[in-house]
Amino acid sequence: MRYPNRRTGPGRGSSPVSFTTPRPASWQVCLQCGNEMVETDATIRCRECRGLLEVRHRRPELAGPVLRALFQTRCCTRHDTTASGVWRFREIVLPGADVEPVTYPEGNTPLLYRPALAEWAGTPDLFLKHEGHNPTGSFKDRGMTVGMTQARRIGARMVGCASTGNTSASLAAYAAQAGLPALVLVPSGKVALGKLAQSVGYGASVVAVRGDFDACLRLADEASERLGIYLLNSVNPFRLEGQKTIVFEILQQLGWEVPDWIVLPGGNLGNTAAFGKALEEARDWGLIDELPRLAVVQAEGAAPFARGFAEGFKERHRVRAETVATAIRIGDPASWDRAVRAIRTTDGVVVSVPDAEILEAKSVIDRAGVGCEPASAASLAGLRRLAAAGTVSANARVVAVLTGHMLKDPDILLSGAGGHSAPIDEIDASTEALEAAVGRIAGG
Ligand code: F0G
Repeated sequence: MRYPNRRTGPGRGSSPVSFTTPRPASWQVCLQCGNEMVETDATIRCRECRGLLEVRHRRPELAGPVLRALFQTRCCTRHDTTASGVWRFREIVLPGADVEPVTYPEGNTPLLYRPALAEWAGTPDLFLKHEGHNPTGSFKDRGMTVGMTQARRIGARMVGCASTGNTSASLAAYAAQAGLPALVLVPSGKVALGKLAQSVGYGASVVAVRGDFDACLRLADEASERLGIYLLNSVNPFRLEGQKTIVFEILQQLGWEVPDWIVLPGGNLGNTAAFGKALEEARDWGLIDELPRLAVVQAEGAAPFARGFAEGFKERHRVRAETVATAIRIGDPASWDRAVRAIRTTDGVVVSVPDAEILEAKSVIDRAGVGCEPASAASLAGLRRLAAAGTVSANARVVAVLTGHMLKDPDILLSGAGGHSAPIDEIDASTEALEAAVGRIAGG
């Protein structure tokens, strides 16, 4: 099959794409104007209209059960890049990659069953996909391994991002591995301690911006090209290709039996978009034959998408965001349009939950010995609401995604917020003092 060259007008600094030859393994499409660009174009937005891009792949040569079997053979391998829970799926992530991936390896995160949490949520058939078990403690590593590999492919000299903390921690680690300098912009005073410490520790240059995440992202997006920085926020479509593997891995762990619901927190909505794309592709390529419904949960103080959903997505909302879950303290989500598509395709829902319920859910998750950061707990808090409202039925099979590790936000644990533990009791090093302390504990 031959494709016309859909580009019009001059590009900025690269020769026009011409698909007058058979389609390559992958290419990029602007979701706004339909312009097509080669996979290795170094710009992360459309050269024509600055719209967001999507990576498209040619249908893999293998499909359905054969493709599933191939992925299965790679489970537990430890000697090459397919040990990664991202690159195990390389045929549907970055099939044309001609460079060695920058991989930790990442992924291979556990799918947990905890009766106490199932009971609390009101959905007995509940699994928790704990993405906090990634190398830097959040799901961002899945997108970052692909984004950093793409940075290497296009010969980037420097990488950067705006972040509420997890993207920056991940970017810092993967940039260190790739040997690239990294610049991260974070909202001053609004990043959890563990994330900030990671970014510094892995060697990124950290700039704290007096403004919120939305301001940081605007700044990074506007300035990155001029400053020669390859932007690795989730506006970069290659990030989403990696994050799709959360869904592929869940499906594989469930023996490709499709759950009724997948629940995840929503902030900038890159992950929501990635989940929608993953599910469409999994269906189109015969890995599954029906779609689960997506449920996206936002914090009440940062819930423009939930408001949009309630109004049938008639318009795009922007809010001034405030929530204790700093990871999702985002008022102007960049991936709005692609997330709307994910919700529509999966017959999904979007809800918001108050901070008090996020903290309550977090406390329950922590006390179950699982642990997660506040934004992750939004999944469970939202699920509980949806179950109570009857939207998610009691016999539904549900997978709730925990996006980040408990140690990301130590401050909140020690602050006592949300019914967390009492202050630490300090004693002299004597048996009497210890006996007295145990007495206090026993007395509640
Ligand atoms: N959960 C955690 C732990 C996050 O760090 C994020 C986003 C989300 C959920 C929401 O994902 O933005 O794709 O809807 N963190 C970004 C960051 C914004 O900079 O680390 P989303």
